[in-house]
Amino acid sequence: MAVASIKEIKQKALEELKAISDLSQLSEYRVKYLGKKGVITLALKALKDLPPEERRILGAELNELKDFLEERLDSLKRELLLAEEDRLTDFDITLPGRRPEIGTLHPLTKTIREICDIFLRLGFEIVSGPEVESDYYNFTALNIPEWHPARDMQATFYLENGALLRTHTSPIQIRTMLQRTPPIRIIAPGKVYRCDADVRHSPMFHQIEGLMVDSDVSFADLKGILTYFAKETFGERTKVRFRPSYFPFTEPSLEMDISCVICDGEGCRVCSNTGWIEILGAGMVHPEVFRAVNYDTEKWQGFAFGLGVERITMLKYGIDDIRLFYDNHLYFLDSFKTL
Ligand code: PHE
Repeated sequence: MAVASIKEIKQKALEELKAISDLSQLSEYRVKYLGKKGVITLALKALKDLPPEERRILGAELNELKDFLEERLDSLKRELLLAEEDRLTDFDITLPGRRPEIGTLHPLTKTIREICDIFLRLGFEIVSGPEVESDYYNFTALNIPEWHPARDMQATFYLENGALLRTHTSPIQIRTMLQRTPPIRIIAPGKVYRCDADVRHSPMFHQIEGLMVDSDVSFADLKGILTYFAKETFGERTKVRFRPSYFPFTEPSLEMDISCVICDGEGCRVCSNTGWIEILGAGMVHPEVFRAVNYDTEKWQGFAFGLGVERITMLKYGIDDIRLFYDNHLYFLDSFKTL
């Protein structure tokens, strides 16, 4: 017996193994290969005539094949028996059908769609922009010059060619204003990137930008629209408050808080006992931004806002770890099926 013939035995045995589809084929196969006069049994017997070195190598290979086949045949037999049993059991037509598993939208996708829907009802249009941005669109045109401390507020991922990953969705304001003429009413959801990671921060997260430019847009319009958005998102009873804030691309700037969704304003851990939770930044478009896109500041006014999708989703559903959104655990994602 030679190495070549062992290879052949093995190849044939594995091929025929694949073709077994019922119990009688299985027992025929077992006799053919592993029976008293089976191919492998005989080959093992023939080993004794070989020189010791060859016997050792070929013996090991044959035994390995034999063990493998025995194990495979045993489990195949179990499978075939079960299938047989299934077939013989009476078919009960009163049993409920087996429902196919269906998926569900990711909670962040849900929030993005819900928020976009609210603004679509107000006549806004959805637009998008690139995630790889230039320094100009992400910072300079938004009145954040080279030396500005606000650049450090948003720890930026820079790419090798001088481009960067956008740190906010605000560059879409610039791109839109350059492409269009007012009136403008847009909403822009998308991924943004900042070098930051803990239970509340992820290096990639989602924002939604809003921009409205027209010949008669006031701070009151901004407050009205944001109040409507908050009540639509968190419920009619939600209270809002506006605090003065600072962004280089808006003047005046504000941050909007909502009454705490967990304690209803009573004070709890989530709102650090203040009863209020910050949900977005906004303001009137800064004249320097209008100048960057060649808009006549005497003719046009506008407001802009930016909100964090993860933050709003965490508040809506009481989620306390941002990383759950990206882990892809089905038990987490499935819990949004009925919501
Ligand atoms: N871009 C700001 C941020 O990332 C949010 C913002 C958008 C503020 C538009 C004012 C106007 O935090």
